[in-house]
Amino acid sequence: MSNVKPTLKPSNIVEFIGDIFARRGGEEYLGEPVTMAEHMLQGASIAEQNNKSDAVIAAVLLHDIGHFIGEFGTFTMGDTQDRYHEISGAQMLAPFFPPEVTASVYHHVAAKRYLCATKAAYFKRLSPASVHSLNLQGGPMNELEVAEFAQNPYLEEILQVRYLDEAGKKADMQTPTFAHFAPLLQRLVDRHCLHK
Ligand SMILES: [Fe+2]
Repeated sequence: MSNVKPTLKPSNIVEFIGDIFARRGGEEYLGEPVTMAEHMLQGASIAEQNNKSDAVIAAVLLHDIGHFIGEFGTFTMGDTQDRYHEISGAQMLAPFFPPEVTASVYHHVAAKRYLCATKAAYFKRLSPASVHSLNLQGGPMNELEVAEFAQNPYLEEILQVRYLDEAGKKADMQTPTFAHFAPLLQRLVDRHCLHK
């Protein structure tokens, strides 16, 4: 693809995302021993190995895509304010993917704040970079925020994606490439766009 952004349609969105993985996936996932593409492919592979739904596999594969398209740029360990990559990612995906995918991407940062507030063991799983960003993102949720978040109809998928996000930070894991997951993504796009 050229540098000119194509008009995104159900027929080219998967290729467009694959192109981002190919061109930019090798970038460092700051503070972690994996590249951006490795991080997302690891999470998707672990989801697939554990027979998670197509929506969860897709959501974990795409959850950090906003790092590449967000107007706020990418997160660095030196950041002193949050950059809301989850919102820009979800906005790009929303016209093409079912709401459980978009919701899991949109809320993957909030899910960390939710789990830190509700599951004592969860905080211990976080990498140093993830603790750093947690603090920028507002720290653990308060009681009111927890109660509101728990109402989300896609809470189960959102939390699964969050755990898979944490899992996909291994220094030495072999995964399939993006192409392996492309048909699954296309199935979700076709189903969603057909039923809109
Ligand atoms: Fe992530």
